Amino acid sequence: MKILYYNSKEEGSKKASNIIIDNLKSNPKIVLGLATGSTPETLYKYIIEDSQKENLSFKNVVSFNLDEYVGLNESDEDQSYKFFMDNHLFKYIDINKNNTHFPIDFRDKEIKENYDEYDNLIKKSGGIDIQILGIGNNGHIAFNEPGSDINSKTRLINLTESTIKANSRFFTSISDVPKQAVSMGLGTINKSKKIILLAFGEAKREALERLIDAKSFDINWPCTSLFNHNDLTIITDIKL
Ligand code: PGA
Repeated sequence: MKILYYNSKEEGSKKASNIIIDNLKSNPKIVLGLATGSTPETLYKYIIEDSQKENLSFKNVVSFNLDEYVGLNESDEDQSYKFFMDNHLFKYIDINKNNTHFPIDFRDKEIKENYDEYDNLIKKSGGIDIQILGIGNNGHIAFNEPGSDINSKTRLINLTESTIKANSRFFTSISDVPKQAVSMGLGTINKSKKIILLAFGEAKREALERLIDAKSFDINWPCTSLFNHNDLTIITDIKL
C-alpha cells in the first residue's frame, strides 16, 4: 500500500491523472475501471486536459464502470452514472462507446440478483489494469455497503440510509434517490491489477484510517477488503 499526501484535491487529482496518462502511453489498450461521484470529477478534468496536450488517443481503451443506479425516475435520468461519465469524460475524449461498460443499463426494468456476466466480461477483456476508486464515509467502495462479502461479485445492492442521504444532495428530494444499484463486488474490485483510491476531505478520515490500519478484512468496513492488495495507491489530502 502506497500513501501519497497532497495539499489539495486538485494536486492529488493531477497526480492520479499523471499515473493514468503514463500507463495509457505504455499501453494504448489499457482497461480502466472508472468511478463516479464528486471525488473523480477533478481527475477526469485533468485526464481530458493532459491527454489533449499530449495528443493521446483513447480509441483502444476499454472501460468498466463500478456501478449504476436501479429505478431512477425518468425525470432524474441525468443522475445516472452513464450520464455522468458521458458528461465528465467520454464526450471529451475519443473513446469508442462500444468499449465502455456499465453493470446494467439504468433504464433496465428486469433486475436480477446477480450479474456474474459483468465479472466474466471484465475477465474476458484481460482484467482491469487500473481501477479508480472513491471511498464512502461509511467505508463503502462502489456500492459495497457494510456487510458485503469480501468475495462478492457484481450484484444488486440495497443502499443504506446513510448512502441514500449522502446521495440526496444530487436530487430534488430524498424520496427521489434510488434505493438500489448494481455494483461490482469487493471480490471483483480486488482482482484489479492496480488500484488508485482517492480520498479527499475530513469526512473520509475514519474510513481511510480503517483501511490503512487494517490487518484483516472487517465486514463493517468494506474498504478494508483492500488491506492486502499488492498494488494499491491511496491519494489523499487528509493528514494522517
Ligand atoms: P463522493 O462519493 O465521491 O461523492 O464523495 C464517494 C463514494 O461514496 O464512493
